Amino acid sequence: MAFIHQLGLNKLFSLFSPVVRPLLNVRANQRLESAVNVWDLRDAAKKRTHLMCFGYLDSGADDELAMARSRSAYSEYECHYNVLAGNSPETLDLRTTLFGGQVNLPFFMCPTAGHRMFHTLGEKATASVAAEKGILFALSSLSTTSVEDVGKILPANQPKVFQLYLWKDKGLNRELLARARENGYDAVALTADFSWFGNRERDRRNGFSIPPSYSVKQIVEAIKRPAWTWDLISNDMYTYANINQDVPAESLAAFINKQLSPEFTWDDAEWLAGEWGGHLSLKGVVRADDAVRALKSGFSSVWISNHGGRQLETAVPPVDALPEIRAAVGPDVQVILDGGVMRGTDIAKGLALGADGVGIGKAYLYGLAAGGKEGVAKAVDTLEDELQRAMGLLGVRTVDELKARGPELIRRRNTVKWPPA
Ligand code: LAC
Repeated sequence: MAFIHQLGLNKLFSLFSPVVRPLLNVRANQRLESAVNVWDLRDAAKKRTHLMCFGYLDSGADDELAMARSRSAYSEYECHYNVLAGNSPETLDLRTTLFGGQVNLPFFMCPTAGHRMFHTLGEKATASVAAEKGILFALSSLSTTSVEDVGKILPANQPKVFQLYLWKDKGLNRELLARARENGYDAVALTADFSWFGNRERDRRNGFSIPPSYSVKQIVEAIKRPAWTWDLISNDMYTYANINQDVPAESLAAFINKQLSPEFTWDDAEWLAGEWGGHLSLKGVVRADDAVRALKSGFSSVWISNHGGRQLETAVPPVDALPEIRAAVGPDVQVILDGGVMRGTDIAKGLALGADGVGIGKAYLYGLAAGGKEGVAKAVDTLEDELQRAMGLLGVRTVDELKARGPELIRRRNTVKWPPA
């Protein structure tokens, strides 16, 4: 199938897209329509997307325990709510400030790699939804749409974050920082938990690669997912758009592997802080001592994450690491939380336990893979609706009120004293 792009046949196929595409997407659109929550979007994504790409999006490391526990950890916290607060959707105000700018919602899209793998519109779809909803968008270094093109989609008055790995090639780090600065990104998030590649066994089993390989197995899987496959063969092939465009697509994966290094230390993080000079967050922190050290090393905020459970198996659920880190850094440092968010109540709990902003990852990618921009919008709208209901029923009206009253409104299960004192 590689010959399709080499011969430019994708251009020919694209002429038929106005007729073929809607026909191939009839079932996917119905599934999107009937999805009532993020889990349904996951199911719809699985049915539309090539196994190899869905597996990459959906998986965690090893036995996927860190991923599962990051999700279930929220259920260990219970809502101890006030009644008769008189809340209605009109009285609620979900706006807050993140990375120095105002946003309409306290949750946002985490940096995640390669959106065009899941849907041909890729980051154009996800960033457009962030722009229209007025929420924070964080762009991955490994995006399949460039820093420049995504920068143009996001309004100037809306905060945006560029995620960086430390590459061995310091020139590449500098170049990416310069491009982020020129294109109006307000903040950089340095991913610190990715110096070794996590053991994603589903990817190995499914033969995951970028760009896709064309073994018999992959072709059979492609035939089973015609809507996804039509998009692949009737559009230009996706590449990691920010990374050295001179490297042929086939050797990009090797190039990226060569650029990652397990040898980076706090000295390298400090070097980066000096190079960037602006708002900088250390992403992947799960311990109070590392959080404090990040602040001393020139970072202005701490981003609690276990990389969606995709890196170190049985890594602590981020929400469980949050209270201790908040206590260690004090009330004034911006603390971001991501990991396992599938429900509005998860977001409410994250805010109540000390986060200023809560990142979603797989949740919006399921929407993207299920149905492009409409799917992403459905994921965000669903979580917004669930968060509103959670706040309404908890008896709080604003994000600040939820944060301030968090300790009395959210408590760990089984902490009730019986009999009462
Ligand atoms: C991943 C990296 C690319 O989790 O963030 O796959």
